[in-house]
Amino acid sequence: MNFTGSNILSVEQFDLDSIQTVFQTADRMQPYARRQKRTKVLDGAILGNLFFEPSTRTRVSFGTAFNLLGGEVRETTGMESSALAKGESLYDTARVLSSYSDIIAMRHPKSGSVAEFAEGSRVPVINGGDGANEHPTQALLDLYTIKKELQHHGHDINGMHICMIGDLKFGRTVHSLSRLLAMYKNIRFTLISPKELAMPDAIIDELVRGNHQITITDQVAGLLDADIVYQTRIQQERFTTPQEADLYRGKFRLNSEIYTKHYKPNTVIMHPLPRDSRAEANELDNDLNQNPNLAIFRQADNGVLIRMALFALTLGVADLIEKYECDVNWYSEKRHSY
Ligand code: NCD
Repeated sequence: MNFTGSNILSVEQFDLDSIQTVFQTADRMQPYARRQKRTKVLDGAILGNLFFEPSTRTRVSFGTAFNLLGGEVRETTGMESSALAKGESLYDTARVLSSYSDIIAMRHPKSGSVAEFAEGSRVPVINGGDGANEHPTQALLDLYTIKKELQHHGHDINGMHICMIGDLKFGRTVHSLSRLLAMYKNIRFTLISPKELAMPDAIIDELVRGNHQITITDQVAGLLDADIVYQTRIQQERFTTPQEADLYRGKFRLNSEIYTKHYKPNTVIMHPLPRDSRAEANELDNDLNQNPNLAIFRQADNGVLIRMALFALTLGVADLIEKYECDVNWYSEKRHSY
């Protein structure tokens, strides 16, 4: 894959070599994310960070990643405060905003909207989530986390067992992650969801074509022998009414008791976040916070590294990062505490 000048719209664009390139570049970002060094490789560059749907981590980590490379961030949040609410087309918005930026990260509630926007853009566009469709940067950071966590236990992605739990129908993170994992070998997928929220057939077909082992169920039962348990939130914003989402909330809670009963001691716990911590949902209980296998915050930290790597690659500066390095002047706890 030739990264320079490319949009990042779907995980379909990646093969194992290009994933490796992203991961190696992400590894090189550690000293800057930990404030051991700075780099000014994107000095003067502008990111247009356009989030037309709620976001905390993805939006802020895109911005942080760009800042850590020395660039500036201009942000728009919420549909209602943009001209899209006045009937402007995605094409027109893209034509205009792309002349104000060097690269754009975008999230939008409609499937396919980021690709549509990219057609009008004169700069690379990175998909920060388009409806229930895709979330490629989250999938890359999830895969990077899986690789690091398994390495820690002396295991590999090939041959692993992952349980995905919750809203597998509307959860774009599990869609994109499954499609990336489909490229690896001999993975066991246990897909646990209410029947109505099952993984879409198109994704199951990709897993079948990749010769993976798939179990589809609406029960968490027995010892699951998983290497990774990937919990998700019921995507209430994708249901026709909030009452419909209520039917499924809280069905698949994960807490210390359930973890001990159904998972082996080193099963890595992941969640794209936000976890719904309201009592009626509580899908990932706070009693797991001290469990060393809870990888959710390492996952979020890795998001900055992956997004830095994608910016450096798409803007063609990956070879120059260290050349534009300088010292950090201020005291930073991060330098010492990771
Ligand atoms: C996810 C998303 O927006 O798809 N969050 C994220 O980007 N980390 C998952 C979710 O909202 O449930």
